[in-house]
Amino acid sequence: MELGNHTRVKEFLFLGLTQSPKLSIVLFILLYLVYVTTLLGNLLIMVTVTYESRLHMPMYFLLRNLSVVDICFSSITAPKVLLDLLVKRKTISFNGCMTQIFFFHFLGGVDIFTLSVMAYDRYLAISKPLHYVTLMSKGRCFGLLGASWVGGFIHSIVQISLLLPLPFSGPNVIDGFYCDVPQVLKLANTDTFTLELLMISNNGLVTTLWFFLLIVSYTVIMVMLRSHTGEGRRKAISTCSSHITVVTLHFVPCIYVYARPFTPLPPDKAISVTFTVISPLLNPMIYTLRNQEMKSAMRRLQRRLLSSER
Ligand SMILES: *[C@@H]1O[C@H](CO)[C@@H](O)[C@H](O)[C@H]1NC(C)=O
Repeated sequence: MELGNHTRVKEFLFLGLTQSPKLSIVLFILLYLVYVTTLLGNLLIMVTVTYESRLHMPMYFLLRNLSVVDICFSSITAPKVLLDLLVKRKTISFNGCMTQIFFFHFLGGVDIFTLSVMAYDRYLAISKPLHYVTLMSKGRCFGLLGASWVGGFIHSIVQISLLLPLPFSGPNVIDGFYCDVPQVLKLANTDTFTLELLMISNNGLVTTLWFFLLIVSYTVIMVMLRSHTGEGRRKAISTCSSHITVVTLHFVPCIYVYARPFTPLPPDKAISVTFTVISPLLNPMIYTLRNQEMKSAMRRLQRRLLSSER
């Protein structure tokens, strides 16, 4: 069959994480465990925040929002990756691929903006403790979160509307395991140099700047905390260090993927796994293992559940 110049590819072919059947099984088991843990861990956070009235404050509501986003974000790639590890021919339809890119950037954007709202919330709590309750009202909280979703949407729709009109008439092989801008842009049958530059600035530059901004904010918060004393200070330092850890582990792989020319490098797949599958797990891990308040809330919830069973 002769392919016309303008016949668009119907599907893309993933080379996947590995070609070896044995390694596929090992990776399947590992990633399956990671994905299930992500779902359960984030659900645990949601349940704990919902049922523990002591956690009914903006900081934990925001954390619950982040858990919702993380569950959605990991579900864009993880199930498909798991399925693909079990089959030999790993394909995705053209529309499926574009949909994956859209939601990947949409929710990825929301994730990053929610982390920023969390930083702003801590900043207000520590710099203006007396006015915190009025400043971080329910309305303000909703407004900021709404803005995060709108921000994520705009970021993603801009990207996808630049990508969709490009001619894709083959090749259609993606050396990876999910659809994202760097991999797909390379397959367009046109000179994508300018577009690549644009995408690098839309993603890479913005995430890098955003990351520095957040780190600077947390540094400012930490410096302000020096004048505080006692229990409150200890708690605040613990919370902020959890936040800094989550932010760093979210942003660093993201910056690695986007803030450079889209030429593949050997460690790319490993970094992509961290970025797509592991990141959404960090939040529950850090909060359930490190945050004292969260840990004791979970213990109280467990006691309540156990005593209601009797
Ligand atoms: C998200 O945060 C808002 C504002 O604090 C809160 O009212 C809402 O319940 C949260 N949503 C979820 C699903 O946690």
